[in-house]
Amino acid sequence: MEVIRTQVAIVGAGPAGLMLAHLLQRSGIDAVVLEARSRQYVEQRVRAGVLEHPTVQLLCDTGVGDRLQREGLQHRGICLRFDRVDHHLDFVALTGRSITVYGQQEVVKDLIAARLAAGGPILFDVGNVRLSGLDTDEPVIAFTGRDGVERVVRPAVVAGCDGFHGVCRPQVPGGYLQAFEREYPFAWLGILAKAAPVQAEVTYAYSDRGFALASMRSPEISRLYLQVGPDETLDAWPDGRIWEELNARLALDQGFALNEGPVLERSITAMRSFVVEPMRYGRLFLAGDAAHIVPPTGAKGMNLAVADVAVLAEALERYFATGATDLLDGYSERCLRRVWRAEHFSWWMTSMLHLTPGADAFERRLQLSQLRYVTSSEAAAISLAENYVGLPYGA
Ligand code: FAD
Ligand code: DHB
Repeated sequence: MEVIRTQVAIVGAGPAGLMLAHLLQRSGIDAVVLEARSRQYVEQRVRAGVLEHPTVQLLCDTGVGDRLQREGLQHRGICLRFDRVDHHLDFVALTGRSITVYGQQEVVKDLIAARLAAGGPILFDVGNVRLSGLDTDEPVIAFTGRDGVERVVRPAVVAGCDGFHGVCRPQVPGGYLQAFEREYPFAWLGILAKAAPVQAEVTYAYSDRGFALASMRSPEISRLYLQVGPDETLDAWPDGRIWEELNARLALDQGFALNEGPVLERSITAMRSFVVEPMRYGRLFLAGDAAHIVPPTGAKGMNLAVADVAVLAEALERYFATGATDLLDGYSERCLRRVWRAEHFSWWMTSMLHLTPGADAFERRLQLSQLRYVTSSEAAAISLAENYVGLPYGA
């Protein structure tokens, strides 16, 4: 059987796996990326869209920021819309830093292009990925290639970057990982539409009918979300109903109407908070959604995935250069500090902005009080802003 020897085997070509491959490539560390889906599929999967300041900086500093700088939409802040009025938070004034709207699949495209241009392998369309020997010095990954041929990778280290539903985390023996979890009694229905965004900035709307979010991908493309029930399906949401509900939740006293256009993509995403500790088992290092999930309010998911692999790449560089394992040993603890900050922020933003089924007037009054506080107190606004733009790595 064909055996591929490499320093790092990366399972998953999402933002975590591709960014890790890119950082390792720059340090001269050999890696193989295994991805279950096709290149076309991962490049077209519509997901997150807001990049934190540290994510933008890392992409630019490591040579994959050219298109991001040309096509990304740099925003000074966001809008919180409640009581039918817009309340602007100017992150640049509050923190000196901005955010950039740039689709996750664009980041993925840029990272794939950079890796292929540098001659690094990404094996797409692999099947039946099986891991063994994770608690030994010789882990093994067996898989079926796109051509149907069985192959084996023998790396020194495995990076589990295969998302929440991947195969890496379930390989860890029962009882070793501790899981922390919250499910929310709602989901997000998201659409991508060929319609010019009306609002200049990402707008989070709190209304009696539930939460809505108006974002964008370009001056011609809108990205819009609605809070829906956790068990709802797309069948119940024909386009007319989606636009009507978005307009009702985003209503302003001064008047407001979205530009409507053809819906290019639609999906419903469950809302969940999830963390496993530690993010390591033997030679397996978990990163991104494979180790933790946040509800999307606050746009932290992809940013956390990138932050994890920035820490992992640094630890692997030291390990392969010197044999020292101290940074690898500290990987989980260092990541989890940022992870839990983002878990709290995402849970807090979610709790402040969504309508919990059965919520009483007390809870609604608390939400409104919190919204008024973060939009009127500079101290409270800075707290939201510094979390949103992303705390510096190592903070
Ligand atoms: P992923 O992007 O999930 O990448 C994992 C990769 O591993 C995938 O390419 C997958 O195909 C591959 N893989 C899985 N199993 C295997 C296997 N056995 N072998 C090989 N490869 C495998 N975040 C936001 O901030 N805002 C949003 O609006 C938002 N929307 C989302 C919508 C959906 C439907 C989902 C699932 C997530 C959304 N997120 C959002 C979260 C954000 O997109 C993720 O946090 C981000 O993708 C994490 O990157 P990752 O690389 O860790 O995982
Ligand atoms: C987007 C997604 C988010 O989860 C968010 O909080 C803000 C914007 C987006 O897809 O544009």
